[in-house]
Amino acid sequence: MATDLLSLIDQLELEHRQMRDALAHLGEMPAGADLAAVAAALRDLAPVLVAGLDEHSAAEDDVLFPALGAAVGSAAEVFRAEHVDIRAWRDQLFGSSSVDDRLRAGTELRELLEDHMDREEAMLFPSAREWLGGE
Ligand SMILES: [Fe+2]
Ligand SMILES: [Fe+2]
Repeated sequence: MATDLLSLIDQLELEHRQMRDALAHLGEMPAGADLAAVAAALRDLAPVLVAGLDEHSAAEDDVLFPALGAAVGSAAEVFRAEHVDIRAWRDQLFGSSSVDDRLRAGTELRELLEDHMDREEAMLFPSAREWLGGE
């Protein structure tokens, strides 16, 4: 059980790196791009930022946080709430018919998701590993 969870945390960190790469590409999107250009640029990022992000946040919400329980306390609720906001910005980025709304969503998504991953890596994952006896 603990070994499975330690492997899961390793996997989640790897996925963070993939998401950081995708967010960096998002930041390179040219200002003034039209909807077709934005949609084309997003196509390559979709596997990581759509299906990948959904699976990632579900693994944290449904597997990691419940397994850690009181060890992470109220921090899990903050991360859980942020997952909802992150997915909402992501949905606007990939789904809005307005280029301006998509670009704004891209900026919001980058800031929120990068900060969210920074805090998971700095606080949540180290505490979880310590609690699980991994380090
Ligand atoms: Fe998360
Ligand atoms: Fe995460």
